[in-house]
Amino acid sequence: MEVFPVIDLFAGPGGLNEGFSSVRDERGDFAFQTLASFEMDTFACQTLRLRATYRELVRSEGDLRPYFDYIEGKRTWQSVLTGDFKRAYETAKAHVYQVELGERNRPAVDSFIEQQLGPEKERGHWALIGGPPCQAYSLAGRSRRTGDELFAADHKHFLYREYLHILSKFMPSIFVMENVKGLLSSKVGDSSMFQTILSDLKRLPSGVSYEIRSLVVDAAPQDLEPSDFIIRSENYGVPQKRHRVILLGVRSDVTGSLPRRVLNKADGPVTVRAAIQTMPGLQARMSKRQPTIDRDWPAVQKEALVEVRLRDVESKPEPVKAGTLAVDEYEAWLHEERLSAPIQHQPRMHMVSDLVRYRVMAELAEHLGKSPKYTDLPTSLHPEHSNVGKASTPFTDRFRVQIWDAPATTVVSHIAKDGHYYIHPDPKQARSLTVREAARLQSFPDNYFFEGSRTQQFHQVGNAVPPLLSRQIGNVVADMLRSLEE
Ligand SMILES: C[S@@+](CC[C@H](N)C(=O)[O-])C[C@H]1O[C@@H](n2cnc3c(N)ncnc32)[C@H](O)[C@@H]1O
Repeated sequence: MEVFPVIDLFAGPGGLNEGFSSVRDERGDFAFQTLASFEMDTFACQTLRLRATYRELVRSEGDLRPYFDYIEGKRTWQSVLTGDFKRAYETAKAHVYQVELGERNRPAVDSFIEQQLGPEKERGHWALIGGPPCQAYSLAGRSRRTGDELFAADHKHFLYREYLHILSKFMPSIFVMENVKGLLSSKVGDSSMFQTILSDLKRLPSGVSYEIRSLVVDAAPQDLEPSDFIIRSENYGVPQKRHRVILLGVRSDVTGSLPRRVLNKADGPVTVRAAIQTMPGLQARMSKRQPTIDRDWPAVQKEALVEVRLRDVESKPEPVKAGTLAVDEYEAWLHEERLSAPIQHQPRMHMVSDLVRYRVMAELAEHLGKSPKYTDLPTSLHPEHSNVGKASTPFTDRFRVQIWDAPATTVVSHIAKDGHYYIHPDPKQARSLTVREAARLQSFPDNYFFEGSRTQQFHQVGNAVPPLLSRQIGNVVADMLRSLEE
């Protein structure tokens, strides 16, 4: 059966690609082969190359031991780079192109794609995937840039044009474009970014055009509302409320032979409990940095715990009931028995004052069934020189506990800096989430390794499309491409 080529733009650590790469047909053969991933970040590229090496070894039935030895830190990169592993790495490396996509590099990128896809006459059906970067559209990015004159001229608004250029020039049968929800409300000058992108997609310079479909609402393109393009990951077996805009583009000459398809919802959510409770417990490491005011922190904690345990909790919400099949599927997808222990699962350092806050907040969260507000903390735990309680307080939402019996809040690339937002629900562990826990909330398989420092690892995890969601999208795309071959 046909293996369909994929080209991945703004590939990040490869979350979107991972899902597509895992799709198999009914005979068990892989449906897609990634011919090129384009990405400018050095560490994300290293992650992409390593993952592509792993896939190459799986597909060629090569020896996987060196891969596992490397990701478990048992052997160095130099020592594994021989034999099957080296051959797989050389092949993988040739498909990852580190480059800043933009007008300046178009000639080089175009000729790489041309070389990868082969002569135009011989090209079959293939798919373009990827998400132009989102800072410029994201709500957080925008609020920081209010009144900034350079904002309207920011080239990141227009990086989607690189995507459009490749669509126009190489005309894949299908494309998948992911972006943040803020894209729907983003404006540059008086124009809506989203409408501009949609109309650009309908008339590309080469004359080719695409029908834009929703993967979650079964309606004719002209009847779709912008919100119909939002995919809520928690409805599809991902333990995280990640809401993203995803467009499915079908080249207009093949739309007639491709009935609309939407993703099947899972039988219920996958909760934080299902995702991370089985991870080995960890104690946070204490940083040497001292809080501004020296206190007897163990005593402060003890008193605060007594105080919160005495509080009456009247309306504790019902825990969310996890979907049985959804949890089974999620576990099967992540599970890796060849690892002796979870990788990239080390606690971060925290100041003693924050550890006490985490401990008390996580305990409060257990009582409330939801994350407490910072103002719910006993006053002894408010920050020194605090303005908590004033209308403009910046502190109220600075801390957030993830809740056992619900999907997590969105894992963002900022997680590298915002440990306070990702407090582990177990009060006894009193810490923020590890890279592996964040990766699990993003549905990365346990054997997926992120290169770079811990900050860079977090950054990559938060940037990605959840692979388990992208696998479902990949399944739809593979079915469509197969039916075009028939
Ligand atoms: C949201 S992430 C993509 C995530 C990816 N689709 C996944 O599922 O893992 C966007 C990526 O675009 C990259 N990027 C931003 N501007 C770029 C440019 N001009 N050329 C190439 N890559 C770029 C960033 O480094 C980042 O990794």
